[in-house]
Amino acid sequence: MPAESHTPLTNVRHNGAVKSLAILGSTGSIGTQALDVVRKYPDRFRVVALAAGRNAEVLAAQVDEFRPSIVVLERGRFDVPGGTQLLHGAGGLLEAASHPDANLVLNGVVGSRGLAPTLAALDAGKSVALANKESLVAGGDLVMRRVGEDFDRLLPVDSEHSALWQCIGAGKLADVRRLLLTASGGPFRGRSRDDMAHASVGDALAHPTWRMGRKISVDSATLMNKGLEAIEAHHLFRLPMDRIDIVVHPQSIVHGIAEFIDGSCLAQASLPDMHLPLQVALAWPDRLPDGVEPLNWQSLGDLSFGPLDTNAFPAPGLAYEAVRRGGTAPAVLNAANEEAVAAFLDERLAFGRITDVVERVLLEHDPVKEPQLDDVLGVEEWARTRTREVAA
Ligand SMILES: NC(=O)c1ccc[n+]([C@@H]2O[C@H](COP(=O)([O-])OP(=O)(O)OC[C@H]3O[C@@H](n4cnc5c(N)ncnc54)[C@H](OP(=O)(O)O)[C@@H]3O)[C@@H](O)[C@H]2O)c1
Repeated sequence: MPAESHTPLTNVRHNGAVKSLAILGSTGSIGTQALDVVRKYPDRFRVVALAAGRNAEVLAAQVDEFRPSIVVLERGRFDVPGGTQLLHGAGGLLEAASHPDANLVLNGVVGSRGLAPTLAALDAGKSVALANKESLVAGGDLVMRRVGEDFDRLLPVDSEHSALWQCIGAGKLADVRRLLLTASGGPFRGRSRDDMAHASVGDALAHPTWRMGRKISVDSATLMNKGLEAIEAHHLFRLPMDRIDIVVHPQSIVHGIAEFIDGSCLAQASLPDMHLPLQVALAWPDRLPDGVEPLNWQSLGDLSFGPLDTNAFPAPGLAYEAVRRGGTAPAVLNAANEEAVAAFLDERLAFGRITDVVERVLLEHDPVKEPQLDDVLGVEEWARTRTREVAA
């Protein structure tokens, strides 16, 4: 988007059209909540493709209810009704992402396996509602090159980015001075590094304000999630990292703040419930009623904001360092983090070592400049192997 242009966010018109959806990651936290929105507005959405990993039971029930033309399971089988075709694996995921009848693809798979389907959907001319932040972290330039000037072909689902998207839409992107992502602080807010070094999986998954999948919950405990989100915002809103900040806000009521050049700050506020950002993205440019219970401002109580404890939580700083290094460094950061989090969830790595292991792998990497998809996939493979060695 040219810096001086008026953001297209405010120029799009309501159209009320029925949207045909491909939902990738339909059995997960994002996918099931997206299907709640679809269920609520059957006259606005129809489902043409569903894709998931291994949860055949939940997927089979979704197929029975939504009757998509194709359904994709990473592996395994189940009986599909007539009119539905069952596909498998990464190839199936790409077919779902580029299904000819879909005009909007919700990418809710977890991990950088989501990058190739995001690219396939954009290459096939679809709009993408993006929950899979790893797509932008691992391949931000590849994704944004495809988005080009069609800003609203990539609709953020992450609550912070949805908030910023809505706030920026009230003005011009060119007039934004700074973006602030709010962070609840996760389950270990206020703890020291030593104090959480041997935190259990159960403690790390016990997020105080959001119910999410396991990987993002651990990222929220290390605060790597905020680092990944800062990279996501850097690509989505095409701003340098030094104009993207993080502020700790334990109540998770304000989700994002856009600060404009005149000093005015616009913030978006709502209960922490992913149904709302999902509904905003799926319905865009329309707004549908009853996304979430509105806030009761009279009884809300105090909202607090404070700085990040960078000593206890060094992970966001690593994300800024990865972007500073450039090229494939963010892809390595992300892949190393995915492997380290998987090792923690398998109880092979202590909580306190997750960020150290990621840092070591990131610093060992010599980034490939202006990478293509193959470069990204290559460095990810290296990073995953190296992380397993370092974490052993
Ligand atoms: N949850 C949230 O509130 C939230 C908020 C903001 C952003 N996000 C982002 O949204 C994404 C999804 O998060 P989540 O919390 O929904 O995760 P999740 O609950 O773990 O769900 C992940 C989904 O990905 C599917 N999947 C895993 N491997 C797959 C494969 N090889 N092929 C196809 N599908 C595969 C899973 O299928 P099976 O379950 O069938 O294996 C599941 O449907 C992440 O990038 C996360 O950072 C989530």
